[in-house]
Amino acid sequence: MRPIPSRIDAHGEAFATNRAAYELRLATLRERLQVVLDGGPGRARSIERHLARGKLMVRDRIDCVIDAGTAFLELSTLSGFGQYDDGAPGAGIVTGIGVVHGVPWMFIANDATVKGGSLLPVSIKKHVRAQDIALENGLGVIYLVDSGGAFLPMQDEVFPDKDHFGGSFYRQARLSAAGLPQMSVVLGGCTAGGAYVPALCDEVIMVEGIGRIFLGGPPIVKAALGEVVEPDELGGAVLHTRTSGVSDHLAATEQEAYGRLRELCLATNQRRLGRGPGWLDVAEPEPPLHPAEEIYGILSADDRIPFDVHEVIARLVDGSRFSPFKPEWGTSMVCGFARIWGHLVGVIANQGIIFNQEALKSTHMIELCEQRRIPLLFLQNTSGYMVGRDSEARGIAKDGAKMVSAVANATVPKYTVLIGGSYGAGNYGMCGRGFNPRFLFAWPNSRIATMAANTAQTVLVDIRLAGLKGEGTTDEEIEALRREVAHQYETQSDPYYATSRLWDDGLIDPAQTRDALGLCLALAARQDAPARGPGLVYRM
Ligand code: COA
Repeated sequence: MRPIPSRIDAHGEAFATNRAAYELRLATLRERLQVVLDGGPGRARSIERHLARGKLMVRDRIDCVIDAGTAFLELSTLSGFGQYDDGAPGAGIVTGIGVVHGVPWMFIANDATVKGGSLLPVSIKKHVRAQDIALENGLGVIYLVDSGGAFLPMQDEVFPDKDHFGGSFYRQARLSAAGLPQMSVVLGGCTAGGAYVPALCDEVIMVEGIGRIFLGGPPIVKAALGEVVEPDELGGAVLHTRTSGVSDHLAATEQEAYGRLRELCLATNQRRLGRGPGWLDVAEPEPPLHPAEEIYGILSADDRIPFDVHEVIARLVDGSRFSPFKPEWGTSMVCGFARIWGHLVGVIANQGIIFNQEALKSTHMIELCEQRRIPLLFLQNTSGYMVGRDSEARGIAKDGAKMVSAVANATVPKYTVLIGGSYGAGNYGMCGRGFNPRFLFAWPNSRIATMAANTAQTVLVDIRLAGLKGEGTTDEEIEALRREVAHQYETQSDPYYATSRLWDDGLIDPAQTRDALGLCLALAARQDAPARGPGLVYRM
């Protein structure tokens, strides 16, 4: 594979303008992440109370469990952003991948300083998403439980439906059956439904004085049975470890519990990172030839000005080496092979609109990767499939459908990064959320919507006017409608709106993308080979 020749002028004016604009975006991202890490507005009282009980903050707990000096890939840190009156930073739950004795685990840890760790609709989505990632990537799950269970005021949005609270218990049982260990440390109250999180685990550690498990808490017991009972007597760590057997290990302190947990993990017989069965070709990693931070100066400050995606690829892949597929054909789709942290990967990256040739070329590329068992990486930056008379006459609908069909049926691991616009069915063909990429990350410049705001205002105003058949609409009313639609589309295509709702697995700094993808690929490489699909290559 040859290195991609970089043509950017890192000292030029355009680069400096782009970079300055991107630094501002990153400052916003870091500021918003910091708010979550610090606790968010109005949480000082609950944090104080939490610490006064001698409890550790949720991220400090995770740090106690993972191997010293290793990174934790936190997912969807900004979930809940701008929702619930900004009262649920991180949706009150931390999920992510950490390494314990060299083995990667999924962590699901409640943040009891946010609404008592109870689960809001987005918290449930995040919990369930973490379990789905665990299942697909062969990860055991560590639950650090400190939760009030379902967020009762919104019980209709968290309790009864398929992927609601019940779905998390269903997944827990299925994960365990798939041989993926389910371990928990109980660090707070686990009431009613919440009791099943530890109860469904393979092994449970309870911390004396703070951990409690009961199907009905003291107030319910009093109301139902007239029994007056202290919380620890009803469901404390000593009762459950020495009498009921709901818990397997008793720890006097949190620190002791984490030491014990690390010890228990050693006996789970899980494959370590870097010890794969060998289905994926992994070479010695090489850093890219160009610094990843140069991506800030490559991405255009003005979304309407295109940038060369080869320059981005050159800053993500090993040695900046790239072996292009069909470079002379369908040039607004860049396809080719590269390595990330040594792992061979097939890259499909947009250079704007998807025309017929681009749709066919990508379909062919997906088929090649499927036949050769090579994971796929989609770098999305598209306004969608080409519309218009010529394009329709060339059958863009059926060529786009081939691509959508190929991506839906690809059995190799798929990963998606939103590096720019993600509009219309381009989102689907390029392996958007609906197509189950194993991980989907977004950059803070990304935008996702059915169409761009300027297109939407024209379309929606025209539809409204056609409905009124020209009757009784003043220019002011049309202008007001235009503004309303533009505002709606601007708001809803904002990357923070998207990440808040878990349309991605996290907004990340472009400079961190290579490392995040490297870990994701390493997870796949340590699993058995994915089941093979038909593996047919139809030349398009
Ligand atoms: N739904 C909604 N809010 C909840 C909640 C739940 N299930 N559990 C806790 N909260 C809120 C509390 O209202 C309180 O809010 P505030 O800070 O705005 O006053 C905050 O979380 C902290 O709760 P608090 O009871 O003060 O904390 P605690 O540490 O003393 O006790 C629990 C924590 C989880 C043991 C206790 O709140 C509790 O038992 N909650 C109800 C559990 C339950 O019955 N769940 C049903 C699950 S199906």
